[in-house]
Amino acid sequence: MNRRYRKTIIAGNWKMNKTISETRAFAEEIKPLIGRPKWCEVVLCVPFVNIPSAVRLFKDCRISIGAENCHYESHGAYTGEVTAEMLKEAGVKYVIIGHSERRQYYNETDITVNKKVHAALEAGLYPIVCVGESLEQRELGVTMELITYQVKAALSGVPADKMRHVVIAYEPIWAIGTGRTATAQQAGEVCEGIRAVIRKLYGARVARAVTIQYGGSMNADNAEELLAQPDVDGGLIGGASLKPASFVQIINAANQE
Ligand code: 13P
Repeated sequence: MNRRYRKTIIAGNWKMNKTISETRAFAEEIKPLIGRPKWCEVVLCVPFVNIPSAVRLFKDCRISIGAENCHYESHGAYTGEVTAEMLKEAGVKYVIIGHSERRQYYNETDITVNKKVHAALEAGLYPIVCVGESLEQRELGVTMELITYQVKAALSGVPADKMRHVVIAYEPIWAIGTGRTATAQQAGEVCEGIRAVIRKLYGARVARAVTIQYGGSMNADNAEELLAQPDVDGGLIGGASLKPASFVQIINAANQE
């Protein structure tokens, strides 16, 4: 983390978990535990149908609400899809774009990721753009080439003045839901590399202000070490964000003075 130049953001990604009543139970349990985190922003990205209740339930405890996806068009005949503007009006602040699960199961490509980043920014949302390599790619030694490509493609056409709304999440696919975390050094190296890519595209001032998160089996035990890396500015947390106690421990790790 480097709080002097950029925001630390701890975001939960609930994926396809929790009903509205489970969301309410989570809110009741976390509220007495969370306090008022001063040094980091806390976000919960929840399934679409939970958004209106989540916005209401978490308003008084400074947790911003995010969505897990959006469509890139502004309206039209796309059965089952949701626009960025709909999310904005529902009270959403962040939207995850290009999560590896969407790339893997729902044909998300670097092209659609780029279109969605533009749609999100246009609607006034903060995109959390996910990038990450597979185990094979890491073993082949092409991690940084791949991540560079993903970052450049995602940001294509995004002007410098919009970059303060963009968050990047480095999520190595082999670390997601596997209990296998990248070492702090591996996470730090790639996040540093991502910042270097942004520096080349937009210059040093923009690059040092961008929040770059790590995601992939982040939990209460490893959060502190990962967040101690200068270029790791927070986490995108799956499993450990589903339980108030473990999520709060990660928030506390990010919130130390
Ligand atoms: P886990 O924390 O469950 O590994 O999930 C990470 C993730 O995919 C967050 O987007």
